[in-house]
Amino acid sequence: MKNILVTGGAGFIGGNFIHYLLQNRSDCRVVCFDALTYAGNLETLGEVLDNPRLRFVHGDITDRGAVYRLFEEEGFDAVVNFAAESHVDRSIDTPEIFLKTNILGTQVLLDACNKFQTKRYHQVSTDEVYGDLPLDRPDLFFTEETPLHTSSPYSASKASADLLVMAYYRTYSTPVTISRCSNNYGPYHFPEKLIPLMILNALEDKPLPVYGDGKNVRDWLYVEDHCRAIELILEKGRVGEIYNVGGHNEKQNIEVVKTILKALGKGEELITFVRDRPGHDRRYAIDPAKIHRELGWLPRTSFDDGIQKTMDWYLKNRAWWEHIRSGDYQNYYEKQYGMRL
Ligand code: NAD
Ligand code: DAU
Repeated sequence: MKNILVTGGAGFIGGNFIHYLLQNRSDCRVVCFDALTYAGNLETLGEVLDNPRLRFVHGDITDRGAVYRLFEEEGFDAVVNFAAESHVDRSIDTPEIFLKTNILGTQVLLDACNKFQTKRYHQVSTDEVYGDLPLDRPDLFFTEETPLHTSSPYSASKASADLLVMAYYRTYSTPVTISRCSNNYGPYHFPEKLIPLMILNALEDKPLPVYGDGKNVRDWLYVEDHCRAIELILEKGRVGEIYNVGGHNEKQNIEVVKTILKALGKGEELITFVRDRPGHDRRYAIDPAKIHRELGWLPRTSFDDGIQKTMDWYLKNRAWWEHIRSGDYQNYYEKQYGMRL
C-alpha cells in the first residue's frame, strides 16, 4: 500500500483527486494536509473523512516544522502538491500570499522530500505559466517547450515554483515531475471561478458578470480526466519531466455562459458585461501530445457531457454550495474535529 501526501486536498482538484484515489486505488492510503483557507472546504471530503485510508491534517505548507513532523511520522512514498492560492483575480488584489504559499510553500515541501528521501514529488502546475496565445492563431498550442511568459502575480508565482522544482531536480536529484493543466471544471469547484459562479448565479437569477468582450478562450478539462493524468504520471511518468494536460476543448467564455443559461432554461438577459480583468490572458490551448504518446493519456469526457454532469452535480448538491454562499462551511472543521482534538 502506498502512502501518499495530498496537499490542498480540501480544495477543488485536490478534493477530487482524493475521492478518485479512494475509489480507484485500494493500494493507497492518503494523508490530506490543508490549511483550510477560504478555498478549503472540509465538506468536500465529508463523505470520506471516516474512511480508514484517509487522514486529514490541518496545516500550512509554509510551516516547515509542521511539514517536517508530518513527513517524519508518515514516511510518504509520494507527495502531490495541489496546495496553492489559485484565483487570478485575488492575486491582482493581494499578490503577497500567492508568493508565500505558491513559491515558499513549494520550497518547504521540496526540502522535506530531500530530508526524508521521498520517492516522488509531483507539482500540480498550470498552463498559465506559458502566458497566452493570440485569438487569430488557432494553429498555435502550448507545448512543454513553450517559453514561460507569465501575466498575473498568480501565474508568475506558479512559474517560479516550477523553476524551483526543476532546480531541485538538477541540483539535488530530487525525484520530481510536473503537470501543467488547462482549466478544470466539475464537482466541488469553488464558486468564485467562471463555471460554478455562472451556474449558481443563473440558478438564483442573478447577473452573470462576463469580463471584457467575453471572447477570451479557455481549454476546459473535466476534473476526473486531470486526476487520471496525475495518477498516470505518478506511476509511469519519467522523473525530471513536465507533462502538459489538456483536451482540445477550447471555448470562448461567452459560449460557455450561453451553454449554461440554455441548459438551465434561463434567458441571456442575465448576461452582464463588466470591466475586464487587468492583464487578461486571451487564449489558452494545450498540446497534450507528450502525455498521450508517453503515457497513453487522453481525456474521456467531452465538454458537452462534462458541463451537463457539472450542472447536475450543483443541482443535486445544494447544501455544499449554499454553505459556501452563507459562510457556514468555515465552521465545518470545528463541527467535525472540535470534539476530537
Ligand atoms: P483551490 O483554490 O480550489 O484549492 C486550494 C487548496 O489549497 C485549498 O483547499 C486551500 O485551503 C489549500 N491551501 C491554500 N494555501 C495553503 C497552504 N499554505 N498550506 C496548505 N494548504 C493550502 O485550487 P484548485 O483549483 O483545486 O487548484 C489546485 C492546484 O491546481 C493549484 O496548485 C492550481 O494552481 C492548480 N491548477 C488549477 C487549475 C484549475 O482550473 N482550477 C488548473 C491548472 C492547475
Ligand atoms: O488555466 C488554468 C487556470 O485556470 C488555473 O491555473 C487557475 O488556478 C484557475 O483559476 C483558472 O484560471 P482562469 O483565470 O482561467 O479561471 P477563471 O474561472 O477565474 O476565469 C475563466 C475565464 O472567465 C477568464 O477568461 C476570466 C473569465 N471570467 C471569470 C470570472 C470569475 C469572467 O468573464 N467572469 C467572471 O466572473
